[in-house]
Amino acid sequence: MEKVLQVQDLHVSFKTYGGEVKAVRGVTFDLHKGETLAIVGESGCGKSVTSQSIMKLIPNPPGKITNGKILFKEKGLVQLTDKEMRKIRGADISMIFQDPMTALNPTLKVGDQITEGIIQHKNISRDEARKKAVEMLQLVGIPSPESRMKQYPHQFSGGMRQRIVIAMSLVCEPEVLIADEPTTALDVTIQAQILDLFRDIQKKTGVSIILITHDLGVVAQVADRIAVMYAGKIVETGNRREIFYKAQHPYTKGLLNSVPRLDVESGDLKPIDGSPPDLFSPPHGCAFAARCQYTMEVCEKVYPFETKLSDEHLVECWLQDERAKKMKVNIR
Ligand SMILES: Nc1ncnc2c1ncn2[C@@H]1O[C@H](COP(=O)(O)OP(=O)(O)O)[C@@H](O)[C@H]1O
Ligand code: SF4
Ligand SMILES: [Mg+2]
Repeated sequence: MEKVLQVQDLHVSFKTYGGEVKAVRGVTFDLHKGETLAIVGESGCGKSVTSQSIMKLIPNPPGKITNGKILFKEKGLVQLTDKEMRKIRGADISMIFQDPMTALNPTLKVGDQITEGIIQHKNISRDEARKKAVEMLQLVGIPSPESRMKQYPHQFSGGMRQRIVIAMSLVCEPEVLIADEPTTALDVTIQAQILDLFRDIQKKTGVSIILITHDLGVVAQVADRIAVMYAGKIVETGNRREIFYKAQHPYTKGLLNSVPRLDVESGDLKPIDGSPPDLFSPPHGCAFAARCQYTMEVCEKVYPFETKLSDEHLVECWLQDERAKKMKVNIR
């Protein structure tokens, strides 16, 4: 399968008064053409920092990519200058955020904003750009797009605004769309509509999507593959079935028990006890050890190796390692 984006051993740190925050600590994943990859994990685990790194939007200082490669179709992004990166942003890789207002200018009519976006990247006339803007609004399900072009962002509902932002992010036909918590600010019904829209757009355009969310429930319908992040690392990756029905990492299982699910009769929802480790001095071993029910001595000392359970299913937990099978589990 063609890899449109490859992230290899990414490390990102922030220098603060309190010390160095190691926000991302060796993240590796591929994004395949036309798929939706979800990155899921509790708040603060490094999801946004990972996506900002891909876009080269890490504020420097205090932040810095200290190691790793990011390849867009074989082309390395980490070393690019700001000018070179500006050509890629929006045109090849685009990004949308939780709050649509961060992407919209409240003082401009939405039609003008989308048209400007097109003209910036494409060498076409204003008339052609306007036509394309109307088409895009139609594609994302805005009724009577011609007349709504003349309205300002505040004249739209939250869900409609997010649709406009999605239209803006797609006008230059990017190959990769990164959506960072795109539905978190919306109510449940609208959330479902926006997720449907992603699926629909992917079918029509073939765009590859990275969907970032803290809510595993959100990805159940839309993700082809899921990467579960904890304390700056990806601890388990698999296709949707593998993560929802065959999860092996205790953290993934904990997340599954803490979200309501339509597909299984769920008993009481149980949030995971405890909180993630301090990223100023992350543990040497498994970062989940302090919260895990199955911690063994080795867990606290040595970070687990990756175990391959199938072509797509990878997990980093000592319980899956043949060599650790004989060890004693200290059930808490
Ligand atoms: N500009 C910054 N300065 C200092 N620390 C930051 C900055 N941005 C993010 N971090 C830290 O990096 C870690 C990961 O943050 P983030 O990627 O935003 O988490 P998530 O998106 O998964 O909720 C957090 O500990 C956060 O405090
Ligand atoms: S490596 Fe050990 S502490 Fe970490 S999740 Fe697996 S069993 Fe738990
Ligand atoms: Mg975030």
